[in-house]
Order: sequence, then structure tokens, then C-alpha cells
Amino acid sequence: MKTIKYVLVSVFSCALLIGCGGEKEKKKDGFSYEKKTNETKKVDTNNPNDVVITSNDLMKYNKSEIKVKAGKKVKIMLKHIGKLDKKIMGHNFVLLKQGVDVVTFGNKAATFANNGYIPEGTEDVIAYTKIIGAGETTVVEFDAPKPGIYDFLCSFPGHYSIMKGKFIVE
Ligand code: CO
Repeated sequence: MKTIKYVLVSVFSCALLIGCGGEKEKKKDGFSYEKKTNETKKVDTNNPNDVVITSNDLMKYNKSEIKVKAGKKVKIMLKHIGKLDKKIMGHNFVLLKQGVDVVTFGNKAATFANNGYIPEGTEDVIAYTKIIGAGETTVVEFDAPKPGIYDFLCSFPGHYSIMKGKFIVE
């Protein structure tokens, strides 16, 4: 059941994102373009549980440690600030349950390309985003788990050795 809930949260976040950022507008000349919105509006920079993390073409996140407060919602906004397609340099954010090994999970996840590199029906994750590529942004919202130290990673094949960090709940 938990897995279903996370999937729903993820889908909901995507829907929100499309609703907010992906709107098509018609210009006077009939040319259709993507409406550009300030996506940082969706995170409250004064809220320690609203976290923006960037990822790039060098297979790196800009954070190796994320600290949040227990007992509250957490919002993770992942941005891909590179130029490469998600098929080549895709990134996501996956938060693992305590006791789940990054390498074991990463190797397993790599075989689930058709499921956003998330093992189908997995009980190993607390939350995850979809895979994004150049210029894309995605958001996932979830309840902060109990205080402790957790691992996060990008589950795109081969990325977890560099794209990983500690998620600390205080
Ligand atoms: Co990645």
C-alpha cells in the first residue's frame, strides 16, 4: 500500500508541475510556446523542509547532504541544469528506507528502465521523482520519516556511485 501512495504522490507532483509550468500559450502570431514560470515559487525558501537540489551533465548533484525537520512535509525540487537528454544523462531523486543498501538498490533499479529506474513494487523507497533531462524540473512531496540518517541517490544506471548523499531528519 505504501508504494502505491508514493507513486500517487509522485504522479500528483508531476501533474502539479505540468499544471504550473507546462502550460501552452498562444501568441498573437499563432505560435505556440511553453509558458515559462518561475518554478522556485513552488518551494518556500524560508521553509527548511523545502529543498531545491540541482543536477548536471557532469553526473553530479549540488548537494551531498540534506537536512530536514521531522514531523513535517518535505518537498524536494530536483532541477536538471545540464544540456543532455534524459536518455543519456537522466537524473532522479530517490530516498531509501534505512537499512537499504545504495549499491544493491542501484544495481537492481538499473534494470527497470521502463519504470523510471524504480524497481516495480519496491518496498525500499520512501519517495522518488521521475527521471528528468536537460532543463527539466520535478517535485516530490512526502512526510518526513522519523529522525535519523537516510541515503538518497540517482537511480539512473551507473550514477549512484557519484550521485548520492545523506538525508538527515532532525
Ligand atoms: Co543521475
